[in-house]
Amino acid sequence: MGIVLFSACYYDKKDLVYPQVTTTSCDTTNITYSNSITTILNTNCNNCHGATTANLSGGGIFLHTYATVKPYITNGQLVNSILQNGKASPMPKNMAKMDVCSINKIILWVNKGALNN
Ligand code: HEC
Repeated sequence: MGIVLFSACYYDKKDLVYPQVTTTSCDTTNITYSNSITTILNTNCNNCHGATTANLSGGGIFLHTYATVKPYITNGQLVNSILQNGKASPMPKNMAKMDVCSINKIILWVNKGALNN
């Protein structure tokens, strides 16, 4: 009984259990392709994977429209690449991982079906 009480008390301290909730502000409400994902890809990826750049510096992989992005969602390469987990070429190429907020937004969008919304 004493242990149960102690543990209930500990888990009430949400800021200790989930420090990222209080230290990071990442707005993950209303993530859509058009309002969030395009901005992230344009900022971090499309200098190589854009309409005019992909054939020169993006390995022929275009990420500038929903239709061109979707196959890399379906085959898992886009998420694996940004997680830099060894299951796809780490992206952005020759760079550190994107910020956690941008990665989380993409994963949330993918988990909700990667809609063209
Ligand atoms: C500096 C140029 C550059 C940037 C920036 C870049 N890529 Fe790439 N990307 C490439 C090249 C080149 C390839 C072809 C495979 C390789 O060379 O690793 C590639 C391959 C890929 C692939 C295929 C993965 C595989 O295993 O073949 C995906 C998916 C991808 N990039 C996604 C992204 C995403 C998402 C971003 C932004 C977060 C990004 N890339 C940023 C150059 C880049």
